[in-house]
Amino acid sequence: MKTRIAIFASGNGSNAENIIRYFLKRDTAEVLLVLSNSPKAKVLERAKALNISVVTFSKEDFYMSESVLNRLLNEKIDWIILAGFLLKFPEPILQHFKNKVINIHPALLPKYGGKGMYGMNIHKAIVEKKESETGITIHFVNENYDEGKIIFQAKTEVLGTDTPEIIAKKIHTLEQQYFPKVIENLITENPQDTRLRGHMQ
Ligand code: GAR
Repeated sequence: MKTRIAIFASGNGSNAENIIRYFLKRDTAEVLLVLSNSPKAKVLERAKALNISVVTFSKEDFYMSESVLNRLLNEKIDWIILAGFLLKFPEPILQHFKNKVINIHPALLPKYGGKGMYGMNIHKAIVEKKESETGITIHFVNENYDEGKIIFQAKTEVLGTDTPEIIAKKIHTLEQQYFPKVIENLITENPQDTRLRGHMQ
C-alpha cells in the first residue's frame, strides 16, 4: 500500500509540484492533499491542475479548531511535508504525527534559521554576511522554528558576485534535485541509497 502524504505550503508551490509529480511515477507513496493558509497561493492552482485535493484554512481554524487535524485523520495521512509553509505548526497536530512532519529550509541550519528567516530574507542575509556557501536543510519539525533533528543537507558555493536572486536559483535547483528522494528514503526507511548517503546526517 502506498504511503499517504499531505503537503502544507503558503506560496508558489514549486516544491509541492515537484513532490506531487515525483510520486505520480512511484509506487512508494502518493500525495493526497495540499493544504494552505493562503487562498490565493499559486500552490493551489498547481495542485488542482494535477488533480490533487486542496484545503484552505484560516489561522483561527488552524490554531483554535481541530478542522485541519480532522481532515488529515479522515484522509488517513501518514506523513506531512512542509514545503514553503510559513506558519508555526500547531502542537496537537505534531503530537498526532510524531516524527512524521518534515520541513525544507533554504539554508544550512542551524545558521539562518528562526523567526523571519525564510525565502529571500535568507538569501539577502547570505550576501550581506559574505558567506562562501549556503544550501538546503531537510529536518523533522518540532515545536520550535527550524530546530528539529536534521535529516539531510546539501551545499552550494556562493560567489562574491552572486545576488540574492542567483542564490535563490541555486537553492531551487538543490530542492528540486533532492527533496522528493529524501522524502522517499525516509518513508521507505532506505537510508542506504548511495546517491544520497554522502549527505545524510
Ligand atoms: C523554498 O525555497 C523553501 O525552502 C522555503 O520557501 C521556498 C518555497 O518555494 N521555505 C522556507 O523559507 C521555510 N522557512 P516554493 O513555494 O516554490 O516551493
